Amino acid sequence: MNMQTNSSELFTPFTLGSLTLKNRFLRAGCFEGMAQDGEVTEKLINHHEDQAKGGIAMTTVGYCAVSKDGRGFGNELYMRDDLEEPLSILVKRVHENGAAASIQLVHCGYFSSPEVIGKKTLGASKQFCTFRFSFCEEMTISQIEEKTMDFIYSAKMAKKAGFDAVEIHGGHGYLLSQFLSPFTNRRKDQYGGSLENRIRFITEVVSGIKKEVKNLAVLVKINQFDGMKKGIELEDSIKIAQALEKAGADAIIPSCGFTSKTPFMMLRGNLPIKEMSRNQKSLFMRVSMTLFGRLFVQYYKYSQLFLLDGAKQIAKNVNIPVIYIGGVLSGKDAQTAIDNGCTAVQIGRAQIMDSDFVNRLKNKTIEISTCDHCNRCIGAMDAGGVYCVTKQEESHQQEDTHPK
Ligand SMILES: Cc1cc2nc3c(=O)[nH]c(=O)nc-3n(C[C@H](O)[C@H](O)[C@H](O)COP(=O)(O)O)c2cc1C
Repeated sequence: MNMQTNSSELFTPFTLGSLTLKNRFLRAGCFEGMAQDGEVTEKLINHHEDQAKGGIAMTTVGYCAVSKDGRGFGNELYMRDDLEEPLSILVKRVHENGAAASIQLVHCGYFSSPEVIGKKTLGASKQFCTFRFSFCEEMTISQIEEKTMDFIYSAKMAKKAGFDAVEIHGGHGYLLSQFLSPFTNRRKDQYGGSLENRIRFITEVVSGIKKEVKNLAVLVKINQFDGMKKGIELEDSIKIAQALEKAGADAIIPSCGFTSKTPFMMLRGNLPIKEMSRNQKSLFMRVSMTLFGRLFVQYYKYSQLFLLDGAKQIAKNVNIPVIYIGGVLSGKDAQTAIDNGCTAVQIGRAQIMDSDFVNRLKNKTIEISTCDHCNRCIGAMDAGGVYCVTKQEESHQQEDTHPK
């Protein structure tokens, strides 16, 4: 196996179904917190335009709900007819700067916010959500069919707006992941019980999109493991990836973690308790988070390529591209992921820190990102829009030392 960094390979094209991407670097779906009242804002457009200018092959608009009742936050996009025009402006600005555009489609299921959606949340089985302090309703078969249609409708709208790809969110404990995981799915019908049954919802979503929408790449983000007892493990996720391939998926992105139980597993590194406490709406939650945050939220040590072993196993067992995600900080990391069977990488925090990251790797002005996984971007995302807090502090310090 060649572990040498071969930067020329990183800047060669590859295909996802009918879509050709110019290099092996993709921006990961990261909730931007820039869609106030569910609208496409200039800030959101600029954010993705900058990603495109910075050399990424494809940017991903994070976290667009497929229906109003799937939202976790008020400042989150939800798909509807009148979003086509503003989204098409975003896509045009990305295309004009040489990148392709994807949008992540999600339904939060029982993590949806009852306050935002104005009604009871939906889930695979009746469940108390410790993240929202609310109970959800167990979905009926007709509700499952309705949500499947919502995913298909959202993919059609994405295509109409000019997107090159959609990313179906089947991980991190959101609705499709709640059906996959035995931890949250205790159903007795054809959508619960055996792994074959738990896979049904997500594969119906993917095959429905592939049937109804032509020339749109479909990537699916799944969990390698949920990170708690009774959750998905790697041997399940290999079978899930194979079923998704059969359903027509063009690529698999194998992440991990369950937002209500193991929220920092997919990120690793520092817990930004102070920033997260500040963003809680109620005084009770602010105080509880400040005092007990470290007890509620588990710490996971960061390392580069922290999800490589599982991604390698999945790549060995499918014939579609596996897009590596988790702790990519350098061209060498990206090449290692490729040497281990992945086709390309998705990058979150290093791209949030520096939208020019890929261009800098290409022209060799940097070798490695200085992102220190302080994770304060998570706090920023909930407080008006994601940005790298460390980088902004550094630039303020420089201004103070060198006043104009
Ligand atoms: C600010 C922020 C927001 C995120 N929002 C999402 C999201 O909306 N959907 C998602 O699937 N993952 C989300 N993630 C997780 C990333 O997609 C990715 O899995 C994680 O950051 C690990 O990749 P990295 O080491 O390159 O940052 C988010 C991560 C960050 C830092």
